[in-house]
Amino acid sequence: MKPAHVAIIMDGNGRWAEARGLPRRAGHRAGVEALRKAVRNAGELGISWLTVYAFSSENWSRPPSEVNDLMGLLRLFIRRDLAELHQNGVRVRIVGDRDNLQPDIKALLEEAENLTAGNTGMNLVIAFNYGSRDEILRAARAALKDIEAGRTGLDALTPERFGAYLDTAGIPDPDLIIRTSGEQRLSNFLLWQAAYAEFVFLPCLWPDFSRDDLAAAIATFSERERRFGGVTAREAAL
Ligand code: IPE
Ligand code: IPE
Ligand code: MG
Repeated sequence: MKPAHVAIIMDGNGRWAEARGLPRRAGHRAGVEALRKAVRNAGELGISWLTVYAFSSENWSRPPSEVNDLMGLLRLFIRRDLAELHQNGVRVRIVGDRDNLQPDIKALLEEAENLTAGNTGMNLVIAFNYGSRDEILRAARAALKDIEAGRTGLDALTPERFGAYLDTAGIPDPDLIIRTSGEQRLSNFLLWQAAYAEFVFLPCLWPDFSRDDLAAAIATFSERERRFGGVTAREAAL
């Protein structure tokens, strides 16, 4: 089966630049080009949901100039690509904490969501200023607030109901999580949602991520046997 939801940890921009004797920001710029292509390729390969990790809640610890470059690239991506994404029927959603972002970035993120809210093509979810621990904590606070106010009971808080407090409310869990650059960790990405995701770790650096890499990861996923804690129909019959 093909994954309905593919999530990507786009890693390795800095190393890509370093290998070419270029500044890190050149790697990030090349990373945006790779993102553009990945969105197009995911649509063509029949993926319904694509989530990309663009900036983590821990990435603020990078030098201010690099943080600035990354903010600038998000602005550029939305300004340059939003019209085309909209034209192609892509629905854009953003997950992550928006409260502390610069006002113009907040406005751009809202514009992207509002403009594309009625689209029925591929769903593109951008994780920006996103960290799972932060997301889960914000969700827990919101749930507690509702319980304290008597809007819901403590016993009614099931995993499904709790999921509705997360930034990813209404978004299906990822089936496949891909990370480029050879690192094999989640780095605070979709900790709750990845409970039963399949993982594919690729050695290539994000700016080099190709259509073939995506297709191969999807093919690898198709060969995996997912069990969700149970047994397969074949095993149950034994
Ligand atoms: C991923 O590339 C982009 C972001 C985290 C924003 P990196 O910048 O982490 O690249 P490496 O890991 O240093 O090579
Ligand atoms: C994860 O990559 C965040 C993004 C891809 C946006 P990092 O490069 O920040 O992760 P670590 O620091 O290597 O774990
Ligand atoms: Mg990295």
